[in-house]
Amino acid sequence: MNYHQLRNEDLRKELKKRGLKGYSSLKKTQMIEYLLTGIRPLKHTVKQVDYREMRNKELRSELKKRGLKGYSSLKKVQMIEYLSTGIHPLKNAQVSAPVANGDIRESFSDGIGYSPTLFGGTKKLPVNQIVSGDCLKILRSFPDGVFDCCITDPPFNMSRKKGLGWAFSSHVTMQEQWDIFAKDDYFQFTVDWIREVLRVLKTNGNLFIFGSFHCIFTIGFILQNLFDRRIISQLVWYKPNAQPNITCRMFTESTEFIIWAVNNESKKAKNWTFNYEKMKTMNNDKQMRNMWEIPLTKRSEKKYGKHPSQKPVAVVNRLVLAGTDEDDLILDPFSGTGTTAVVAKQNNRRWIMIEKQEEYNEIARQRLDELSNMLFENDSEKN
Ligand SMILES: C[S@@+](CC[C@H](N)C(=O)[O-])C[C@H]1O[C@@H](n2cnc3c(N)ncnc32)[C@H](O)[C@@H]1O
Repeated sequence: MNYHQLRNEDLRKELKKRGLKGYSSLKKTQMIEYLLTGIRPLKHTVKQVDYREMRNKELRSELKKRGLKGYSSLKKVQMIEYLSTGIHPLKNAQVSAPVANGDIRESFSDGIGYSPTLFGGTKKLPVNQIVSGDCLKILRSFPDGVFDCCITDPPFNMSRKKGLGWAFSSHVTMQEQWDIFAKDDYFQFTVDWIREVLRVLKTNGNLFIFGSFHCIFTIGFILQNLFDRRIISQLVWYKPNAQPNITCRMFTESTEFIIWAVNNESKKAKNWTFNYEKMKTMNNDKQMRNMWEIPLTKRSEKKYGKHPSQKPVAVVNRLVLAGTDEDDLILDPFSGTGTTAVVAKQNNRRWIMIEKQEEYNEIARQRLDELSNMLFENDSEKN
């Protein structure tokens, strides 16, 4: 069923039929989200609830409020799972995934939008700047449809509380706090930031999202089934010099993926930017394929400090050249060491980066300063 073809009245009937409660004050897109996920959307998406901080009693009352049944014998983690997914943890997960094709902007007609006070009251977007802070909060202060493209490398949720080490190598697997989520929290976090990114991207703007097997299916599901965005390609970044597998219980992980989606309903997507000829030229005059063999990030790109998942300039460079034109405005809400900004600047694109860890922003600033000096010197030589 395509919920977007239904009128509000019919959506309410469908919610009632499915036993989902508390929908009377919801807007159309929120009712659709409720039908697709079984999770009652918060009235204002700005409010973030951390269920882990609630006591059992509060969790029970939250479940009751949301009309979710059969929770009396559940443990805390199970109640959290139930609240986050809407699926009873002891029953088989049934995910109904009909296609939704909504105008996601509708849910922002209630005044959540560009905050004129956030950037010094200037009402100007912080173009070519790194904004330090939580991307959900900051994205919510941007107006609709201002970015031509988003290239981003979000948390993969692959870290463990204690990383694994190997006696013959200094390599330790990821153990970053910003990369640790409960499964259900990760789903909700991903829905929230993708919703915001789709709102601030122009219609038919390009969206490139990195991921590993830990998260790429979740991201793909959200884009395809929850927001009905057109997926154009899945790119595979093959790392010929990947780290060895420490446990020796599985294949050595040596790939990452990049989902390329266009910000429009799958049937309506059109006129997206793809610089076909440029890609062909870069590939010795042969069509560029979707598997890119590129080594891990070079040491020289890490000279201002380390980040556990800094992306190579060479990978991001292909995305920028393929999916944007000069002067386009590029967003990266999980900027890390600012690789997207460095590549954007090198290629005369405009950019806005968001990152919550100040130490990574410092690395990004140094990388961008170095580039400015290089560009300045090149210019002086030409004159
Ligand atoms: C996978 S890393 C990105 C690395 C980046 N591509 C690079 O080349 O350096 C993800 C980044 O997102 C940041 N992050 C995680 N949650 C965030 C949030 N809610 N708001 C802003 N940044 C966040 C982390 O601090 C981390 O640096």
